[in-house]
Amino acid sequence: MVFDEHSKRQASINTWCLSVVAPNTFLTMNCFQMAKAIQLLVLVVGVGVAILSGVECRKARILESFDYSAISCRAHSASIEDFGGVGDGATLNTQAFQQAVNHLSQYASDGGAQLFVPAGKWLTGSFNLTSHFTLYLHKDAILLASQDINSWPVVDPLPSYGHGRDAAGGRYISLIFGTNLTDVVVTGENGTIDGQGALWWQQFHRKKLKYTRPYLIEIMHSENVQISNLTLVNSPSWNVHPVYSSNVIVQGLTILAPVTSPNTDGINPDSCTNTRIEDNYIVSGDDCIAVKSGWDEYGISYGMPTKHLIIRRLVCVSPYSAAIALGSEMSGGIQDVRAQEITAINTESGVRIKTAVGRGGYVKDIYVKGMNLHTMKWVFWITGNYGSHADNHYDPNALPEIKGINYRDIVAENVSMAGRLEGISGDPFTGICMSNVTIAMAAKAKKYPWSCVEVEGITSGVVPRPCDLLPDQGEQELGMCDFPSDSLAVEAMELQTCSFRMNYF
Ligand SMILES: *[C@@H]1O[C@H](CO)[C@@H](O)[C@H](O)[C@H]1NC(C)=O
Ligand SMILES: *[C@@H]1O[C@H](CO)[C@@H](O)[C@H](O)[C@H]1NC(C)=O
Ligand SMILES: *[C@@H]1O[C@H](CO)[C@@H](O)[C@H](O)[C@H]1NC(C)=O
Ligand SMILES: *[C@@H]1O[C@H](CO)[C@@H](O)[C@H](O)[C@H]1NC(C)=O
Ligand SMILES: *[C@@H]1O[C@H](CO)[C@@H](O)[C@H](O)[C@H]1NC(C)=O
Ligand SMILES: *[C@@H]1O[C@H](CO)[C@@H](O)[C@H](O)[C@H]1NC(C)=O
Repeated sequence: MVFDEHSKRQASINTWCLSVVAPNTFLTMNCFQMAKAIQLLVLVVGVGVAILSGVECRKARILESFDYSAISCRAHSASIEDFGGVGDGATLNTQAFQQAVNHLSQYASDGGAQLFVPAGKWLTGSFNLTSHFTLYLHKDAILLASQDINSWPVVDPLPSYGHGRDAAGGRYISLIFGTNLTDVVVTGENGTIDGQGALWWQQFHRKKLKYTRPYLIEIMHSENVQISNLTLVNSPSWNVHPVYSSNVIVQGLTILAPVTSPNTDGINPDSCTNTRIEDNYIVSGDDCIAVKSGWDEYGISYGMPTKHLIIRRLVCVSPYSAAIALGSEMSGGIQDVRAQEITAINTESGVRIKTAVGRGGYVKDIYVKGMNLHTMKWVFWITGNYGSHADNHYDPNALPEIKGINYRDIVAENVSMAGRLEGISGDPFTGICMSNVTIAMAAKAKKYPWSCVEVEGITSGVVPRPCDLLPDQGEQELGMCDFPSDSLAVEAMELQTCSFRMNYF
């Protein structure tokens, strides 16, 4: 075992404590008391005083076992402490993390490895992941993102964006970064990753950023990815960004950021195929989930869509943004998104489309079924004039195609406006379908519940009565808006029960 190699480097007393505490029992040992007792005994017997008087055990070893669900289990395990990591909230652990990952990468073709992060506060800068690897956080482990700018190397802008989003040049690499990987898992029993974003938000507002802010987790050009059962707080910017990847599962995350913090999107699948985002609870300052695929001419030429995306059992609070946004960067196309069991509370809009002239690309075959919404500005919001261009070189003839947008089984209350649907002149957004929608307007609702331009579609059983561009087909068509019954490849990705034992401090 990896651990055993590294334990040689531990102080002799640690090894001693370990051998005294039967390694196969689950117990916490007060080694200090034990050392004292033995010291006394040794004094009486009169041998070995010199060795043992220096002995001191401040902490006892713990042998514990951990069970978790993952796309694959690992044959090897090590703790960040084996690589010199210190969880005191003050020691910078960037090198320990990077050395641990680099060391464990040797097991990629030998059953893979997991890196365990024990309880504690682990201050760290950015580090990179490897293939056939699991990063596992103990429930009381907190990864604290370093606030020293030197902990954040600068990398190139994404090819499908051409520019950083906060500043034209490069971008600070994400806290946890991986590229060109296969089979990578970041999980834990709800352990925490704290981006300590306040400083970044302040720099952003003061327009002092030289490069684009880092994300908490970014996985690029990878397949078979799992990010699950973690709490992510105060990200400098987006939280979870899988990009140019396939077979991605994002499950069981609690994502928290002040609702006024800038661009703290929850989960942003970007040019990804086969993604499953489920059982997440998100409170944030921007869209809870933002589906993307590149920006204007850069996204068009990169040409990598997001497709076959499942979003289910999402709970979202985001007073100034959407529960789910499609765009605004959608120039590589977005197709076949299936959203189900969406709850939003005090959120600006439900499933929103954001696009603009110059984006090109498409948003089509979107299926939304089952939304429960409380206190919303708009239930439906589609925007064709979002603007926000990468630069001035976008093609004014690159018009997005927005087609086949299906919404059904929606209940909403305390709503200011039912729908605001704005297509592009000469580029109407078509095939909009809404059925079985009941919206209770707020006491202070807008005078007209709907506003529609440049859109075409049909409705059935929608209250209040929709705009004339979406004619009513009658109550017998309540189930008319499509929701696919076939299942996607990513739904067949099974999670196994993995377990490992860790002997740690
Ligand atoms: C997340 O945790 C829950 C229990 O809290 C467990 O049922 C589920 O399997 C876990 N999922 C993953 C992917 O770790
Ligand atoms: C992490 O990956 C990025 C992008 O490939 C690279 O620029 C950086 O040097 C890597 N960091 C380390 C410590 O290897
Ligand atoms: C990662 O994969 C992309 C896409 O396949 C490729 O263009 C790039 O060269 C790869 N990078 C590395 C470091 O292998
Ligand atoms: C995870 O931790 C967060 C923050 O403490 C908490 O709100 C959430 O309920 C926890 N989730 C689970 C599944 O225990
Ligand atoms: C209704 O929404 C308004 C904001 O538009 C909010 O102030 C009020 O508390 C909400 N009422 C309820 C009952 O949720
Ligand atoms: C209408 O939507 C509600 C949930 O909002 C659902 O329970 C009901 O089955 C739907 N009716 C039809 C005919 O699909």
